[in-house]
Amino acid sequence: MMKFEGSHILSVSQFDREAISRILEISSQMAPYAMRKKRCTVLDGAILNNLFFEPSTRTRVSFGTAFNLLGGFVRETVGQENSSLSKGESLFDTAKVISGYSDVIAMRHPKMHSVAEFAQGSSVPVINGGDGANEHPTQALLDLFTIQSEMTPFNKGLDNLNITLMGDLKHGRTVHSLSKLLSLYNNIKITMIAPKALQMPDSIVSALVNAGHEIVITDKIEGNLACDVIYQTRIQQERFASKDEAELYRGHFSLNKEVYQQYCQNNTVIMHPLPRDSRPEANELDTDLNDLDNLAIFRQAQNGVLVRMALFALTLGVENQLNQYEKPVTWYTNKN
Ligand code: NCD
Repeated sequence: MMKFEGSHILSVSQFDREAISRILEISSQMAPYAMRKKRCTVLDGAILNNLFFEPSTRTRVSFGTAFNLLGGFVRETVGQENSSLSKGESLFDTAKVISGYSDVIAMRHPKMHSVAEFAQGSSVPVINGGDGANEHPTQALLDLFTIQSEMTPFNKGLDNLNITLMGDLKHGRTVHSLSKLLSLYNNIKITMIAPKALQMPDSIVSALVNAGHEIVITDKIEGNLACDVIYQTRIQQERFASKDEAELYRGHFSLNKEVYQQYCQNNTVIMHPLPRDSRPEANELDTDLNDLDNLAIFRQAQNGVLVRMALFALTLGVENQLNQYEKPVTWYTNKN
C-alpha cells in the first residue's frame, strides 16, 4: 500500500487501485463535516500554504476550505506578480522558504512539471493543483469520486465504464490525469471527441490501448454520445500561441438539451471540471441543461472539497483520528 504520510501528490501515476480506493473511502468519511453535521478539528494549528500562480476559483478555494474544515489555517499567494518568482527567484528557493512556514503546500503553476521541481526543495508535502497542460491529480480523483457516486444508482462502478471525453483533449490537464487513472480499471471504453489538432496526446492513448481498453478517436459528436458519462472540457485558451488560434476551435462541440436528447442515453451523466465557458461563441454546456438531474457539474465541484480533505488527512497522517476530534455545529445551517 502506498505510504501517504509525508508524501507529495504530484501525478496520478503514483496511485494504484488500492491507493485510490483508500482516498475515495476517506473522502466519503469527510461528508458529515463538509455538510456541517459535525465539525472536525483534527488539523487544529496546522498551516496550509496555497500558492496559485495561475487563475483558479474552485481548486484554490476548495483546497483552502478543505483545510479549514479540518481545523487548519490557510495562507495564500495568488499570482506570480505578487511573489518573488517575479524577481527571478527559483522554484527551489521559494520551496525551501515557504515549506519552512508550512505543514503542507498546494500549488498551481502554468509550467509543466514545475510543481515537481518545486517539491524537490520542499520539506513538507506538496500537492499539485495543476501544472500547465501536464496533470491535475486532485481533479482526477474528485472526478473518479463523482463517477463512482453518480454510477451507484445504476448499479455500476468504475469498471466497465463507457465515457466520452470532449473538447480540448490536447491541452486539458484534467482529461490527461483522468484518462491515466481510468486505465487502472477494467474494460473501459473511452470515446475522445476533439478537433484533429486538439486530440489526446499519443502517449496517453497508447497506454490505454496497451492496457486493453477500447479507445475511439473522432472529431464528430453524432453517434458518439451514447455513454454512461460525458465529460465536457473548455478550450484551454491560455495554452495556445495566440487568442486567435484558440478562437478557431471555440464552439465546435457545444452541448445543449437538444444535442443531449438526440445523441445521449436517457441517463447519461454530464460532467465538466469547470469553469464552463458560457460566452455565446463557446457555450460548452448550455444553461438549458441546468434543470437536468444528470447534470453533475456542481456535485462534482462540491466533491472536490471532500477529496482534498481526504488528501490532507492522509498526507498529514491523521486519517484514523477524525472522530476523536469531532465537535457539534452550533450555528444555523441549511446544508443537508
Ligand atoms: C480546470 C483546470 O484548471 O485545469 N479547472 C479546474 O481546476 N477545475 C479546467 C479548466 O480550467 O478548463
